[in-house]
Order: sequence, then C-alpha cells, then structure tokens
Amino acid sequence: MQVLVTGGLGYIGSHTSVLLLEKGYNLVIVDDLSNSNEKVLKNINKITGKNPIFEKIDLKNKNSVSKLFKNYDFDGIIHFAAHKSVNESVNDPEKYFKNNIGSLENIISEIKLLKKPMNFIFSSSCTVYGQADSMPINESFELKKAESPYGQSKKKCEEILETHHKSGHSFKNITLRYFNPIGAHPTGLIGELPIGTPENLVPYITQTAIGKRDYLTVFGNDYNTKDGTCIRDYIHIMDLAHAHICCLERLMKVDEDNFFRVYNVGSGKGTSVLELINLFENVNQIKLNYRIGNRRNGDIVNAYADASKIKNELNWSTKYSLENALKTAWSWQLNIN
Ligand code: NAD
Ligand code: WQD
Repeated sequence: MQVLVTGGLGYIGSHTSVLLLEKGYNLVIVDDLSNSNEKVLKNINKITGKNPIFEKIDLKNKNSVSKLFKNYDFDGIIHFAAHKSVNESVNDPEKYFKNNIGSLENIISEIKLLKKPMNFIFSSSCTVYGQADSMPINESFELKKAESPYGQSKKKCEEILETHHKSGHSFKNITLRYFNPIGAHPTGLIGELPIGTPENLVPYITQTAIGKRDYLTVFGNDYNTKDGTCIRDYIHIMDLAHAHICCLERLMKVDEDNFFRVYNVGSGKGTSVLELINLFENVNQIKLNYRIGNRRNGDIVNAYADASKIKNELNWSTKYSLENALKTAWSWQLNIN
C-alpha cells in the first residue's frame, strides 16, 4: 500500500508518518519545507528504521503535482500540507487562499484523472465551528462565519470536497476537524516546530519555561467560564495521528466508490488556560512565569468536541493523557533547545 502524505514533515504529518511506517505502509512524503526541515525525515528514520520516499514539491505548482501522480500509483492520500498561522493569514490572506485552496484543487484535478476511487483524508479544523452555541460540539453543528482567512480557507476546502463528492466522482473522503493538538512523540525526536514567536499556547508555555520568552500572557481571565479563562479541547498528537490510521483502514474497506464523512478529533474534555498552566507546572515540576493580560481579539471562549462519532464508527479513542502531552511537549522543548 503506497500512501502519499502531503506536509508529512510538519507537526501532525510527521507523527502520522511514523505510525503509518510502523503499520507497514510505503510512504511518499511531499513537503516544500516552508514550515519544516529535512532533519525531521532523519528523525522519522531514527524512530522507525524505515526510509520513506521524500519529494520536495510545492503543491501550488500544478505541473509538479501532475508529475507526482504520473510517477506513483497511490492507494491513499493524507493531505496535511497547508499554511496554518491565523495571524499571518490576517496580514496576507492571498497567501492562504493560494496555498491552502490551490494545493487541494491541484490534487483533486489529478484524482479525477485516475481510473480508481482514491482514499483521501483531509485536515480540517475546529476553527470552522467558530463560537458554537452549545457544548460539546458535534459534526452537525452549523459552521459559523470564519474569524480569519485561515479559517475561511479551511471552510472553502471542506465545501470543495463536498461538492466533489456530490458531483458523483469516484472519491472516498474523510475530513477530520482537529481540535487543539499538543505534545510530542514519546522519543522526543519529533514535535511541533514553531517558526518565530509561537501563536499557540503550549509552544509559548514551553518556550517561556526554557527562558526563550520572558513571560506568558494569559489572554483574559474575565470570561464567563469556570476560572475566567478560555476553554479548549487539547488532544495528544499521538492520539490525533492514530485517528488517521483508523480513517485510512476504514476507507480501504469501503466498497462504495463515492464515500464522504466528517469527524471531530478531540479528547471531549474542556480545559481552561489556567488549568493547563497548572498541570504543566505540576507534571514537569517547573514554575512558569505568567501574567494575566487583555483578551485576544477574535478568541473563541469555549470549544470542546463531542468525539462520539469517530469513536462509534471507527473505534478510535484517546490513549494518552493530558499530563503525558505536557510532559512530552517539555521533553521536546529540551531536545530542540
Ligand atoms: P505544519 O506547518 O507543522 O505542517 C504542514 C506542512 O506542510 C509543513 O511541513 C509545510 O512545510 C508543508 N507545506 C505547506 N504548504 C505546502 C505546499 N504548498 N507544498 C508542500 N508542502 C507544504 O502544520 P500542522 O500543525 O502539522 O498542520 C497540518 C494540517 O492540520 C494543516 O492543514 C493545518 O491547517 C491542520 N490543522 C492544524 C492544527 C494545529 O493546531 N496544528 C489544528 C487544526 C488543523
Ligand atoms: C489556546 C488558548 C488563548 C497563547 C488555534 C487556531 C485555530 C486552530 C486551533 C488550526 C486560547 C490562550 C494562547 C498565549 C494564551 N488551529 N493563549 N496565551 O485559540 O484554539 O486556535 O488552534 O486549525 O485555527 O487559531 O489555540 O493555542 O492559540 O490558544 O492565553 O500566549 O490559549 O487565548 O484561549 P486556539 P491557541
């Protein structure tokens, strides 16, 4: 079984690639290294003892994507490649539309030319729900107007995939809406590599703990939540990676040529910013320098998943704890420093 993993040297792609290799899949990893580097490939090899094929390709380039599909006969595709910085997307929406939507369109054009239905997994995000009206969020909730061009790009990609499905093409698609992935591989050899100042909470915490940042600002403690800080659903990266294996195995077994499902991937638990900080301090025995600051513009107050659909239909469940996620996030920070 040959699987194309786009963005396979990135945070979620690298952890998923490790599990796929351990399961015996042959991989073609495609990445343009815009937010990763080839050292990740070496570390994937160190963990698994396997050497996946690597192609440095920019998926925005239609000719390169055509060539890729001429050179390989894929049994499945997991499409992680995208830009993901919300802040950057606000300053440069074009970059996000061109890359996140353009790359998907190039891949779909090639899938349409194939003589067989393609097994395809797409990385979407809980960002498509915006501030949901109630908790926990299930897949049938209305999608709200996107808060950022990044969010818009994910919504548009979901629409494209649904349209493609409705048009009756041979295509087997699972779209996953990830909540907040955190943590790192148990070996500490791969993890999240934020470039510049991190936007996300956990990399900001670990960089503060190690002294790269003076202090962490908690964005507001006057929300209507248990302790006044925002609530999120933090999902261990290894559990998230495993969800892709469950999806791929399911798709491979589906008899219908035209198949379409959307699943949330989250722990199902809501954790506040202060709870996460306290847990980080306890499990790693570190005091974190943090201050309460102003609210962040456009922040969602509360978001956690109802993950029962993926549990019931694909038999996926979380195996790793939040404590383990925060421990491995810290080990990873110590390794890369
Ligand atoms: P990441 O930036 O670590 O990985 C993405 C990888 O794709 C990078 O290695 C980058 O170099 C590559 N890439 C980007 N554009 C490319 C292009 N045109 N051609 C080839 N390669 C390209 O991000 P991640 O956190 O691993 O996210 C993976 C996917 O999951 C993305 O689609 C992201 O939007 C989505 N997602 C991420 C989160 C999160 O919090 N990390 C949450 C929800 C959804
Ligand atoms: C988590 C909580 C902050 C940093 C992002 C993307 C979204 C989706 C999920 C990809 C919030 C608080 C953070 C800091 C803080 N990703 N915080 N101080 O807000 O869920 O969204 O991840 O699709 O598109 O925007 O995650 O990690 O940025 O924030 O207090 O320095 O931590 O206010 O409550 P979020 P996050």
